[in-house]
Amino acid sequence: MPEIKLINIVGARPQIIKASAISRAIRLHFSDRITELTIHTGQHYDKELSDVFFDELEIHKPDYNLGVGSSSHGRQTSMMITGIEEVLLSEKPDCVVLYGDTNSTLAGALAAVKLHFPVIHIEAGLRSFNKIMPEELNRIVSDHASTLLFAPTNDAFKNLMREGFRPENSPPYTVDNPKIYLTGDIMYDNTLFFAELAEKKKASFLDDLGVTRDNYILTTIHRDINTDNIKRLETILSTLKSLAEEHSIRFVMPLHPRTTNSLKMHLEPFCNDLYNCEFVKIIPPVSFLEMTILEKTAKMIITDSGGVQKESHFFRKPCLVLRKETEWIELVNNGTAVLVDADQEKIRIEFNRFIKDDLNFDYPGFYGNGKAAEFILNEILMMFES
Ligand code: UD1
Ligand code: UDP
Repeated sequence: MPEIKLINIVGARPQIIKASAISRAIRLHFSDRITELTIHTGQHYDKELSDVFFDELEIHKPDYNLGVGSSSHGRQTSMMITGIEEVLLSEKPDCVVLYGDTNSTLAGALAAVKLHFPVIHIEAGLRSFNKIMPEELNRIVSDHASTLLFAPTNDAFKNLMREGFRPENSPPYTVDNPKIYLTGDIMYDNTLFFAELAEKKKASFLDDLGVTRDNYILTTIHRDINTDNIKRLETILSTLKSLAEEHSIRFVMPLHPRTTNSLKMHLEPFCNDLYNCEFVKIIPPVSFLEMTILEKTAKMIITDSGGVQKESHFFRKPCLVLRKETEWIELVNNGTAVLVDADQEKIRIEFNRFIKDDLNFDYPGFYGNGKAAEFILNEILMMFES
């Protein structure tokens, strides 16, 4: 087997968590053959959106932090490309590994492909079929700049075929002769690995929050369509607040700073009501182990997050999705996640259906066997076998 140097590119919270699955698999199975370096673009910089994950999940720490921070799409992405290009030119890795669909993914794809470094895209092929979403453009461009594409689900794999990728391609793989794989989801690897640890390490977390198992609703909101459209944000939160009061059930909301900023800036009186409501507990973003406990013991999950939707499935919880469409369409087809958009009526109807105790849902294994990271790393190594 060859020895290779790979560079991970991360920047936003979910990418750091995803990269931990790859770091762990390298440490456990490939440390003699793979040297790992990490570039953190600095897209997320608050401790609770970044450092907390490096500390808690024992991930390979960033070798480079570009410190790009928040900005408009163009400015943020261009600063990332410039910084990534410099590092790639000096490090000369064998390949560049990208995760998901953020601006950091896009910047990594463009910088690497133009310098002719093979791009490996983990979480390839997901599509919302809504190009208004910044993430949809990021995914499409990143996939088409990649040499190895690892699709987590059947639908993602089919999306790639629909866009002209051919499963029958044979080596040597290049950006013009790319290889697509169906792998399962590295986030499922993570959940299997961390779920028990979370119970041990965060046993008192629910007490600290004043909630009990199966007796609260977990909610996250961070998508630009919900945070930057004040009408949508107000409709969602006022509907959830009234449901909390009607059912006397607590809502735990670890909110992204983007959401709290928008609430405080544009919806001040309502924001005060919300913070004063005895059934609504708004807290800063939590660590992954804390989030795992919250997901595992919630009665229902309400979210616009991609990752949290899937984790609702891993923990067998019904999920309301605060969007019009989703990339994780198997959850909706399964009936355990419902797209409620920011529609008061839909939220109420589906909440009242999912809050019942006699739900008897099936949660099939859509996301692989928990060994996606190992599979991916094996295939990366195979690419370099001469
Ligand atoms: C980004 C990704 C999104 C992903 C999400 C994960 C893009 C286009 N979006 O969205 O796909 O689902 O991360 O959480 O890449 N902010 C802070 N502290 C931080 C970082 C951001 O307060 O550490 C605030 C800033 O006001 C900033 C805003 O959040 O302007 C948005 O940050 P940004 O990284 O642009 O996008 P996210 O909404 O985090
Ligand atoms: N997450 C977390 N703490 C939080 C909210 C989310 O650790 O306060 C984790 C969550 O468990 C999932 C990931 O972050 O693994 C999802 O990230 P996010 O919702 O920010 O982005 P998306 O998945 O929508 O891109």
